[in-house]
Amino acid sequence: MNTAVAPPRSVTVRVPAKVNCELRVGPLGADGFHELSTVFMAVGLYDEVTVSPAERWSVTTTGPYAALVPQGEDNLALRAGRLLARQVRVSRPAAAIRIDKSIPVAGGMAGGSADAAAVLLACDHLWGLRLDREELLQLAAEVGSDVPFCLAGGIAIGSGRGERLAPVLARGTYHWVFALSAQGLSTPSVFAEFDRQTAGMRISPPQPSPSMMTALRSGDPEALGEALVNDLEEAALSLRPGLRTILDAGMEFGALGGIISGSGPTVAFLTGSPEHALDLCVALTASGVVDQVTRAKGPVHGAHLLAGPTRD
Ligand code: C5P
Repeated sequence: MNTAVAPPRSVTVRVPAKVNCELRVGPLGADGFHELSTVFMAVGLYDEVTVSPAERWSVTTTGPYAALVPQGEDNLALRAGRLLARQVRVSRPAAAIRIDKSIPVAGGMAGGSADAAAVLLACDHLWGLRLDREELLQLAAEVGSDVPFCLAGGIAIGSGRGERLAPVLARGTYHWVFALSAQGLSTPSVFAEFDRQTAGMRISPPQPSPSMMTALRSGDPEALGEALVNDLEEAALSLRPGLRTILDAGMEFGALGGIISGSGPTVAFLTGSPEHALDLCVALTASGVVDQVTRAKGPVHGAHLLAGPTRD
């Protein structure tokens, strides 16, 4: 009897978006990155990434944001796949990557990083590598600052460039509403605007705030709503002044807290329950100030295998 197992034909990984409940930004370092202290939360808005064996690398996209995904060598998912292939000895180190995209592109929700994390996990399975978590996290950090968190999920503190993760004591499930913009914002340009706004100021090393830690420990959405903070907010608002109207509208309609997500332009609102989230979605949509709204709860798990490996 032939017991050899055929290689998998494809592997699908589901990966969540993130929101930064707290984003403290330190000075620009010599490496071109800012020292950060951030509290990431993975939220239930997902991309699905499928990898299949192929002679050469390729990326195709489907879903509402498909057309906005950068193609070619700029694509983070492709960079992640190539990096993994270089690290390991596989006989056919290439794959066809298909991304079913629901996370906004350049929205401040780690959409590109999520796809990169998904490719690392999917190719690890496709090629039967079985790298351990630490090895995958290390590769993820080489691809981008948010990629390790997209693998890990849950709630975590990010330091360094954001890639060094530490656990946080947190309770509860949180119900978010996201006001999405039709046009993305480039992360480097938001950091550059932050540098311009803070030029000549003394910026102290960033640290997690006690009020955020207490809020997460309590599991109380009101406390978390009050503790939300983002040092990139002024920079994002200066590049996209219309976001202020959205923030004000969400708070007026009863959100417990509102914040620009990461480098924006997505605006994240915290609510107290699924019903409250639905009401806020309806009010924001009716107000006409937002391009699109969606809801998601967090925290959720990081990148995980959805289907596969499927075999011949
Ligand atoms: O690491 P990632 O590729 O996501 O970073 C994109 C860009 O965002 C960097 O090239 C840099 O301009 C900016 N950035 C930063 N400080 C960080 C993370 C990102 O200045 N800690």
